[in-house]
Amino acid sequence: MLLYALHADITTLSVSAIVNAAKPSLLGGGGVDGAIHRAAGPQLLAECRTLNACPTGEARLTAGYQLPAQHVIHTVGPIWHGGRHNEAALLAACYRNSLLLAQAHNLSSIAFPAISTGVYGYPQDMAARVAIRSVRDTLEACPAIQEVIFCCFSATDLALYESLL
Ligand code: AR6
Repeated sequence: MLLYALHADITTLSVSAIVNAAKPSLLGGGGVDGAIHRAAGPQLLAECRTLNACPTGEARLTAGYQLPAQHVIHTVGPIWHGGRHNEAALLAACYRNSLLLAQAHNLSSIAFPAISTGVYGYPQDMAARVAIRSVRDTLEACPAIQEVIFCCFSATDLALYESLL
């Protein structure tokens, strides 16, 4: 089992699934969501329309279309409202439900962005701790998963993840 952080654009990774930090409608947006839709092509949005949205903390699987990744797992992180609105439990659920969905589809490798830490405002350090804890706790229930990548979009995020891992 490999669990590590990487400084990369998640749309370039050849893994079984990349995770998208989506909005509840699943109909695309900015940040990593926009980058994934641009790289995957319009068929991704067409499949997302058939899913009829996704509540915060849950996850949905689609194909990867023109991405090097075979699949996209769309999850909706919490918007940061100061930390007393169940943000940590909802963020942990994003990582857990994404891994359980990958396991249910027998996927062997998965890459996560730093969910909720962009537009949604979750402080990076607190988010990284939740992410790592949730992944470590969930992996015991995921024998199919051989590789988990924390895909960091900045050198600062990479240093943070490496220190915590
Ligand atoms: N590869 C990897 N990470 C990336 C990339 C990329 N290509 N682009 C950005 N990031 P955000 P959120 C990082 O804002 O906070 C969208 O509009 C970014 O630096 O993408 O969960 C959705 O539609 C940050 O560390 O997602 C929702 O409305 C992380 O990805 C909303 O934003 C997450 O930043 C979701 O907000």
